[in-house]
Amino acid sequence: MPVRQLSEGIVNRIAAGEVVERPASVVKELVENALDAGARRIEIITEGGGRRLILVTDDGSGMNAEDLSLAVERHATSKLPDDDLLDIRTLGFRGEALPSIGAVARLTIVTRHVSARDAGDEAHAWAITVDGGHKSPVKPAALSAGTRVEVRDLFHATPARLKFLKSDRTEGEAIREVVRRLAMSRPDVAFTLAGEDRAPLTWAAALPGPTGRLARLADVLGPEFRANAVEIKGGRDGFGIEGFAALPTLTRANALGQYLFVNGRSVRDKLLLGVVRGAYADYLPRDRHPMVALFVTLDPREVDVNVHPAKAEVRFRDAALVRSLLIGTLREALSREGQRAATTGGSATVAAFRPALASRGAGWDWRRSPARPADPRGIAAAAPRGLAEPAQTAFDVGTPAADTRPETAEPPLDLIDRPLGAARAQVHATYIVTQTRDGLIVVDQHAAHERIVYERLKAGIGRDGIARQILLIPEIVELDEAQVDGLLQRQEELARLGLLIEPFGPGAVAVRETPALLGEVDAKALVRDLAEHMAEWESGLPLERSLMHVAATMACHGSVRAGRRLRPEEMNALLREMEATPNSGQCNHGRPTYVELKLTDIERLFGRK
Ligand SMILES: Nc1ncnc2c1ncn2[C@@H]1O[C@H](COP(=O)(O)OP(=O)(O)OP(=O)(O)O)[C@@H](O)[C@H]1O
Ligand SMILES: [Mg+2]
Repeated sequence: MPVRQLSEGIVNRIAAGEVVERPASVVKELVENALDAGARRIEIITEGGGRRLILVTDDGSGMNAEDLSLAVERHATSKLPDDDLLDIRTLGFRGEALPSIGAVARLTIVTRHVSARDAGDEAHAWAITVDGGHKSPVKPAALSAGTRVEVRDLFHATPARLKFLKSDRTEGEAIREVVRRLAMSRPDVAFTLAGEDRAPLTWAAALPGPTGRLARLADVLGPEFRANAVEIKGGRDGFGIEGFAALPTLTRANALGQYLFVNGRSVRDKLLLGVVRGAYADYLPRDRHPMVALFVTLDPREVDVNVHPAKAEVRFRDAALVRSLLIGTLREALSREGQRAATTGGSATVAAFRPALASRGAGWDWRRSPARPADPRGIAAAAPRGLAEPAQTAFDVGTPAADTRPETAEPPLDLIDRPLGAARAQVHATYIVTQTRDGLIVVDQHAAHERIVYERLKAGIGRDGIARQILLIPEIVELDEAQVDGLLQRQEELARLGLLIEPFGPGAVAVRETPALLGEVDAKALVRDLAEHMAEWESGLPLERSLMHVAATMACHGSVRAGRRLRPEEMNALLREMEATPNSGQCNHGRPTYVELKLTDIERLFGRK
């Protein structure tokens, strides 16, 4: 498609504004051009955080002399053949990027059109320079294929703009983030990013399909993401949704690890935040953010990409539909994988043991090992106190807080084949140790029970409501007046969940009934906790969602607290209930409810494998 000048009418309809704000915007525009030109391999080199040099080389289609000369003119593009701004299928469409860069830097483009490749020596590459807006004539040049764009001394002619740039490091980081996003959107293209201040990043082209997609995401987001990612696949009515989302047990303190791509374009959209929050509401506290990378494909006519000068945002024709499809698809995938807890727990456990192995070098002496049999007179007595203690603490489990006598009998065969195995012991009155066919599992009894209670409360809301138990003597809870107001406004919702409260003077409420499911619960603590959380809930939250919040808080209070001894039957009952409960791999704060250690891991720890 030849490059041509857009008509004034079209130009006026293009989202106006600054195209080049910082070095990272230059990198984004140049790499997008390379992708539009069908490149399979793109190399990016920067110096001085991109301020001194940005060099982008691709093996795409290239340009002939005529197109090259036009390409650096304003509003000249090869990508809008029908002048149809509502049907954009390329990353670029305005013919603004190259002239904008040429206006504020020294721009040199060397390019060789595909048709010249087979035409022998006659047909060579061409070069053009634009410096501070002044364009040189097109000259013959040497290049075997593709296009090489060099941008030097960005903003050299506009010192005021230079002042707004951050340190080279920060600008360099912004460039890396731009390249990361582009690389995530196109696993089939190989990327190299090299800078003067860092080891080069190289991402080989990956296979098509979800495997390749995940491989590239792991390259960019880290191997931990790969190990804990759930595949997302869904959509309908011409909307495709795919991607990967982290299990709720792998989260971050901010939302920077959340990526949305629309028709291959990385976009920032507040919609994504809401989607992720909605989909993970059952699993995560509000201040934790899972990593996700979601790729939406839809008819280009369903989305307007011409709304932001840097093309970083889009507008959906039917945002509500997109949102609900995304939430639905994410939820479905998460509940499918709900039993799975993050592997991070298990492998971190194994890693924690490693130093003990590693230190067992040539000089290892069992007598100095903290694991040596205890001297009957007591190690503390034999050694100077300060020295002996650190070695001891790691192995001193204290007086057993529960019945830790080893079970000598073989575990029942039918139980060890269950997913969570047969309970063998309870330790520290908090953890249940179970045996499975190929390993052992440690269950956090409080976290596990909390999830079970929560799921039951949820099911109860859906059906006939939740059974309540009447308190013989109503519990009076003193609170701030604002808190009392807040609670009373939600009196009805709370009643649906089995908690009956009434006003009791200006600064207090009376609790008359509590959810039977919670058993004997400290009503005061529960109501205080609810009042505190109530302030955080968005007022506009739909009823169902706020009920879930209440249920989550209640579940926490109504659960077997850590520190309660359990009999073997109780432990096994809890395990069986976990197996039957959706999402039982995490408590509703996103912490894992159990960690698993495979026999193979244990064998590795002991050097048997
Ligand atoms: N790396 C490249 N390989 C081949 N052709 C290119 C390359 N870079 C730019 N071009 C050509 O130059 C034209 C102008 O590029 P420019 O980036 O200024 O505008 P655009 O990509 O059409 O639109 P936008 O301003 O939205 O990026 C493109 O339409 C394309 O034809
Ligand atoms: Mg472009």
